[in-house]
Amino acid sequence: MERRKVIIDCDPGIDDSLAIMLALASREIEVIGITIVCGNCPVDMGFENAKKVLNHLNRLDVPVYKGMEKPLIKEFVNALDTHGQDGLGESFLENVEGYEQDIDAITFLSNTLRKEKVSIIAIGPLTNIATLIHTDLEAFLNVEEFISMGGACHVPGNCSPVAEYNYWCDPDAAKLVFRTMKEHHRKVLMVPLNVTRQIVLTPELLEYMKQVNKVQGDFVEKITKFYFYFHLTWENLIGCVINDPLAVAYFINRNLCAGIDAYVDIETQGISIGQSVVDTLDFYKNEKNAHVLTSVDEHAFFEMFFSKVLDIPEEQLKFEV
Ligand code: BDR
Ligand code: CA
Repeated sequence: MERRKVIIDCDPGIDDSLAIMLALASREIEVIGITIVCGNCPVDMGFENAKKVLNHLNRLDVPVYKGMEKPLIKEFVNALDTHGQDGLGESFLENVEGYEQDIDAITFLSNTLRKEKVSIIAIGPLTNIATLIHTDLEAFLNVEEFISMGGACHVPGNCSPVAEYNYWCDPDAAKLVFRTMKEHHRKVLMVPLNVTRQIVLTPELLEYMKQVNKVQGDFVEKITKFYFYFHLTWENLIGCVINDPLAVAYFINRNLCAGIDAYVDIETQGISIGQSVVDTLDFYKNEKNAHVLTSVDEHAFFEMFFSKVLDIPEEQLKFEV
């Protein structure tokens, strides 16, 4: 089987870490690097967290590159309220010393995209990607597929009534990415909140994970505990929404979600700052620059997630969502 090469651009982050776990357990893809952007946590913390996850998986061979420390224009607002003081659910795992690369994330992206066929799975704010567009547009346009967890299609956001965190954190970057894709007749594969919010890890599912594979289940419990608490306090939800792994899962299997092609632009000012305006009814008669996901098969998602992360054949899984 040909393994598709991917770079994961992320801000780990609890659900980013789950996405990394899924990606590294997937034979269909080869993660050739992880690039860190400021978002859920400051970039240095995201770098440390990525190494903690890689260390747990025994995969410190995967290089991690630090990217942008602040959004293009807007003031940086992290999401440690959601992800805990250490950005990893207050698991306070020990730091893994070293592994700093000689080049930064943008240089890595540009060098790599210039020499090989690779896709980007972006599960944080789009500041690294926008900076790549500013510094080396040609390299960016070589990207095989560009998938972004972000935005919200006709549902409320999680930072304002209309804005989702990744696009709200750096709306100018998100706008540049969607505009650039449009100018070059390409489409962002957009994995928005309306689908990711369907992916709820419940206490029962977490318990099931621990029973199937204690080592991985315990690790997931350690890093999600705070997230469960956050969802209960803020939303009265018993469980936690794990957004980012859906982008990895959909990249691997297109049957997990359905979607539509649409023109998308991002608001960068005022009360709606960060909103992803998805023109599903084609009011603007603009070229469609995104494939926007609109529904997901949750059971099929968890089947893939459990089977790969817990290393068990799908046919042996028994759970309900
Ligand atoms: C997105 O924001 C972050 O908190 C998560 O990691 C995810 O990428 C969801 O809005
Ligand atoms: Ca993220």
